[in-house]
Amino acid sequence: RNMSGTGKYQVYVTRSDMPHGGIELLKKQCNLKLWDQPSPVPRSEFLKSVGGANGIFCSLTDKIDKDVLDAAGPTLKVVATISVGYDHIDVQECRKRGIRIGYTPDVLTDATAELTLALLLSTSRRLPEAQHEAKTGGWVSWAPTWMTGPGLAGSTVGIVGFGRIGQAVARRVKSFNTKRILYYNRSEKTEAKETGAIKVTFDELLTQSDFVICCCALVPDTKELFNKAAFEKMKRTAIFINTSRGGTVDQSALIEALQNNTIRAAGLDVTTPEPLPLDSPLFKLKNCVVLPHIGSASIEARNTMSELTANNILAALNESEMPAELK
Ligand code: DGY
Repeated sequence: RNMSGTGKYQVYVTRSDMPHGGIELLKKQCNLKLWDQPSPVPRSEFLKSVGGANGIFCSLTDKIDKDVLDAAGPTLKVVATISVGYDHIDVQECRKRGIRIGYTPDVLTDATAELTLALLLSTSRRLPEAQHEAKTGGWVSWAPTWMTGPGLAGSTVGIVGFGRIGQAVARRVKSFNTKRILYYNRSEKTEAKETGAIKVTFDELLTQSDFVICCCALVPDTKELFNKAAFEKMKRTAIFINTSRGGTVDQSALIEALQNNTIRAAGLDVTTPEPLPLDSPLFKLKNCVVLPHIGSASIEARNTMSELTANNILAALNESEMPAELK
């Protein structure tokens, strides 16, 4: 057992504004070393101060690679991220060293599905644009075709990635009286029965859907899955929503598709890079809604994610079963 002079485990926390619940849990059993600012720890500072840690409490803004693991040294037993996505963690490298990985599935599914629906409706019914018009004098009178957009009722919705979040999106979308729900996923999902979602090929989903929603994890197979060819296969009236990772999209191809009206509109909670630079063409397009990666940002979800991250760390340090270990 690797311990500090005080007999307690050392846990490095990569930012000062992690939700309290998890931090309080850790404090009871561990010495915490916190980056003292409510911003991601700068890389050089991280590498300098992580040495000797038994656990790392990180977020998706922290790249956990060979250099970080080397800097932490042989005392490191667990890396726990306050996210369900783990594309920022070099999983192979952790495995090689016997470092366990904790993440936060399930507890953010509802929050992320809720935000996905909010973004879908904001994009299709043009809420940010409409509010802007209302505030700046564009609202001259009620007008029969002004600010119109496609409805969900009677539409075909395609969900790419039919895991926990994709399925939760399908359940919500169904309540809007959609005509069909299609999904594209590596494996067939028995859960699809609940919503009557139909498994199709990627091309079938693109050509048939009025709304295309990306809910898949970012892995080598899904990197820039949404490229120029994909946008060209979509209906010209299609609306594209992404609440997974910016890396699933070839962003220049998306910008072109939006500028040329190859598709109608896009709603993005995730981009490349993050934050999206203020001069990005995406911010200039009326047919694009951009949110700052807030999918899981319900108060409840973020608190629970923090506690789960702490419990993952505590379980790993005590060599017991982690509540959510990445296997
Ligand atoms: C995740 O958990 O991966 C989200 O992107 C942030 O909550």
